[in-house]
Parts: sequence; C-alpha cells; structure tokens
Amino acid sequence: MEVRHETIQMKGIRKGYRLVHLSDIHFSRLTTHEKNRECIREILRKCRPLWNTCAFCITGDLVSRKWNEATLEDAAELVKNLRKTAPVLFSFGNHEMDLPLALRRELVKALQSEGVTLLHNRSIRLGELTVTGLTLPKHVYRNANGGYSGLSTITQGMVESCLGACVARPGVLLAHSPLGFPSYAQWGADLVLSGHVHGGIVRIGEQGILSPERLFFPQYTKGLYTDAETGARMELSAGIGKLRIHNPAEIVCVDLIPEMR
Ligand SMILES: [Fe+2]
Repeated sequence: MEVRHETIQMKGIRKGYRLVHLSDIHFSRLTTHEKNRECIREILRKCRPLWNTCAFCITGDLVSRKWNEATLEDAAELVKNLRKTAPVLFSFGNHEMDLPLALRRELVKALQSEGVTLLHNRSIRLGELTVTGLTLPKHVYRNANGGYSGLSTITQGMVESCLGACVARPGVLLAHSPLGFPSYAQWGADLVLSGHVHGGIVRIGEQGILSPERLFFPQYTKGLYTDAETGARMELSAGIGKLRIHNPAEIVCVDLIPEMR
C-alpha cells in the first residue's frame, strides 16, 4: 500500500488543511477476517506519520455488497481507530447503496456509534471549508436489469436534485463516481475527492485499462485532474481493496494550501 501526496492550492483559505482520502476498501465476506484486520493495520500504519490530519475522507465502498457481520465489525474497527486521530467523514458508494435498507441502516448505526460523520447528501463545515457528501442515484452505476448499458449521465441538474444549489465555498465534494466531474465543477465544487474506478484495475504505465462499467481505457482512472472550464480539481484515488494488477493500493494525503498570487 502506498501513500500518494498531493498539494493543491485553493482560493478562499488562509491556512492549510490536510485531508487523508481513503476509497474503495471493500471489506467483504469474500475476504477473511484476518485479511481485513491486516488491511486495517496497514492503513493505520501508513496514516500514523501523517501529522496534522484535519479529517479522513472515505469516499464510498467501504464495504462490498457481499458482506456479513464480520465485515461490519471490520469497518467499525477501522473507523474507530482512525477517529482517535481526526474526524472521519464518510459518503456512500454504489456498494453501500446496493445493500438492503436494513443492512445499510445497521452499517450506518455501527459507524456512527464509532463517531463517523455520514455525509449523505449534506454538508458540514471544516474550518474554512465546506465538505459535502454526494450520494448518487443507483441508475448511474447499473441499469434496471443490473447491466451497464444505457446508464444515466451525471448532470449538474442531477447533482442539484441531490444536494440543492452550492451555497458555501471553498468546497470539497466527496463523490464516489468520478464520471460526473464536469457536472460537479459546474455545480460549484472546488475540489472533488472520488474513487470507484480502482485505478482501472490493471495499469500499464500511467493508463488504467478497465472501468467498473466494463469500459476499456476509461477517461478518469487515478490522480489529479483539472476541469478546463472552471479550474476545479478532482483527486481520484485508485482505492485500496479488490483485485489490482500493477496498480498498488493507495491512501492519498491531500494538502490544501492557500492560493499563491
Ligand atoms: Fe464503487
């Protein structure tokens, strides 16, 4: 597991903020309890030297849709330990949204009892920043038949229907899917933290090969992107869990610094 560092200038802040971005951990009943515990220990080991973390931002797919009680315990164990260092902000991915409602409620209850802040289409203040978590509708991930054809496009209108108008900036948006980046930027996000694509699963050099929607050579796979029209940035994590080839698991340490003029 690697720690990737990114420093991003942001308008409207007078001091620095360190956000540690974790995505797509995918605790699952398909991985053993011991393997999950080893993953937790590794994450904590990597995060320990990241002094002055202002918040951990978990951008979805903390658990897989194939889960059991042990999965929930592992998720709670991770956030309990992260919470000792800094607030933990969490937004849903497609896997959490695929859980039956009762299980999703159980997960939320377990995470909240460990002090996690769930950002389910809502915002909080973090110093001078506004951090918003976007829960996208399921039809941007799968169609009604469970397939990937004819998926809904993430538009600015869709973002607004989830979140309302963007009223507070500078703003950080936790949005599981990176596919709506131009729409998130039009909505008013200054920085988007995103995941979902797992770096393209197999990487050859700087190129990720496959998207979760089974498309080859997806546009967004990993790293820092800039929206040409608005100047908004998107930090896309390659994630931590699941199958990956030439594509190390990663934690992204994002340092936001005041804009230099
Ligand atoms: Fe996902």
